[in-house]
Amino acid sequence: MDKRSPVGVFDSGIGGISVLKALRALLPDEFFIYLADQARVPYGPRPIEDVRRFSVEMTRELLARGSKIIVVACNTASAAALHHLRKMFPDISFVGMEPAVKPAAETTRTGVVGVLATPATFQGELFASVVERFARDVRVLQHAPEGLVEEIEAGRFDSRKTLRILRNALLPMLAQGIDTVVLGCTHYPFVIPQIQAIVGENVRVIDPSPAIAAQAQRLLASAGLLNLHGPGQVRFFTTGDPERLRLQVGTLLGEDSEVEGL
Ligand code: DGL
Repeated sequence: MDKRSPVGVFDSGIGGISVLKALRALLPDEFFIYLADQARVPYGPRPIEDVRRFSVEMTRELLARGSKIIVVACNTASAAALHHLRKMFPDISFVGMEPAVKPAAETTRTGVVGVLATPATFQGELFASVVERFARDVRVLQHAPEGLVEEIEAGRFDSRKTLRILRNALLPMLAQGIDTVVLGCTHYPFVIPQIQAIVGENVRVIDPSPAIAAQAQRLLASAGLLNLHGPGQVRFFTTGDPERLRLQVGTLLGEDSEVEGL
């Protein structure tokens, strides 16, 4: 493993591409491998043990392709497996997602923040510990929008169903006085315009991707593994249909990319 080794990134599907975008913006010379477990998306409604097992499998695939660091670009997998992955692979650095409750609690003026995430993310110990550590004086409202990951995965960002799911999640939160919405699932940044249209401009929507990219940069720098000379590139892999992911990446990143099946 050296500076030119890839940064491994995985998610259940296309959600982690929101994190990949932030990673590439900050680390344009890195070689990324993005792995989408689309044969098994969504992870959110599954038992934690299953998500943990899938996360170990995805990590092994990324390590088999020489990854120098692993970004778990999935809140659900981070909640279910990050602790376990760090124990199981002690020689590799992991960057995981956690709902951005801390910056929300620090900046809320109304003292009420809303968090959107999958059921498994809310069940995990990680979420409880984040709330306990950073949001003791704040009211944290939570909602797991059923079916939203599936709609986003299908590219239906503006469908009536997506808008209904979002309104059902957000309007009761607004009625209780939120001024901040935390996106606790990496699929959700793709519908930020739709969320912002519902909550209005005075509600802050927090996408943690830039902070995650900064954390990856810090870890790589401290390990002496930053690639500053490129060539920056991305290779995509999926456990699902490569042609489908190729079209999705084209829409989301505006690029024609090579996608391989696993
Ligand atoms: N993008 C994921 C997350 O951040 C997973 C969503 C899912 O597969 O349910 O939680």
